[in-house]
Amino acid sequence: MTGSGASRHASHRLMTTPTALSPLLQRHRSIRRYKSEPIDPALLDAVLQYAFAGASSSGNLNMVSVVRTRDAERKRRLYELHFEQDMVLQAPLVLTFCADTWRTRQWLQRRDARLNFDNLLAWHVASFDAIIVAQTTALALEAEGLGICYMGTTLHAMREIADFLELPPNCLPATSLVVGWPDEAPAQRDRLPMAAWCHDETYQRPSGEQIDAQFHDREVKGWARYQSLHEGFLARMAELGVDSLAKFYTCDLKYAPKRFREDSEKLRVLFEERGFLP
Ligand SMILES: Cc1cc2nc3c(=O)[nH]c(=O)nc-3n(C[C@H](O)[C@H](O)[C@H](O)COP(=O)(O)O)c2cc1C
Repeated sequence: MTGSGASRHASHRLMTTPTALSPLLQRHRSIRRYKSEPIDPALLDAVLQYAFAGASSSGNLNMVSVVRTRDAERKRRLYELHFEQDMVLQAPLVLTFCADTWRTRQWLQRRDARLNFDNLLAWHVASFDAIIVAQTTALALEAEGLGICYMGTTLHAMREIADFLELPPNCLPATSLVVGWPDEAPAQRDRLPMAAWCHDETYQRPSGEQIDAQFHDREVKGWARYQSLHEGFLARMAELGVDSLAKFYTCDLKYAPKRFREDSEKLRVLFEERGFLP
């Protein structure tokens, strides 16, 4: 290592103050209440262009398409497809990030190149690019003071959303963001402690006691949050025998195993039909 490289390295090791990005990351909250105020189209264009340019891309193939939904009637339909989550109606914008190998395949075909990217690996390549663009966009939007929330429901209504957005074959939605000016300032949500998820050299499997310790804060804080929800919800949890955060996560109100199994099978069929699983 050169002298200057060594000193750069040393200064990194000593650095304990936040980097330029850290305050932005600290401010992150998923926003679920929005003002009706629209987003300046020029600002949105600029954010998307910077985010796309600043996101790594596998082979620089850019196998991503983003569909902007702003029209109120069309947003209403997306609201239905996203399990009627209110923020889809409130936020002035929904961005759907699609894994898109169709455009690339059109280009290959027109150049008499060998065709590819109609397989499961290509789905992963393109959907990872889509997620990277989505998260880069999320950060860029948050830097402008805008709020975002990811929509996991995209995976459960993939076919319906693909059809509604008129996506071609070899193009499917990987995730969505609702975007708008925040009308709430929620508290920062906890995460698992670093010791739980960060490993040196090899994966260190935690003991049962370590699992208990690692999940302790999440259990207390997460459970307290759900306990503060409305009475009807709590009654339903009691009916289902949910008496802990862990049980809540896989009960019928949250990530029900049956729905995951059924929706996984739907995805398999959809991937076959739309050219990602030959
Ligand atoms: C891929 C993904 C899908 C998500 N889907 C939803 C969703 O459908 N509805 C919702 O209210 N929040 C959704 N979220 C937001 C998470 O609930 C949120 O990120 C988590 O609780 C941590 O809170 P924070 O983002 O405010 O730190 C999703 C987040 C991710 C990363």
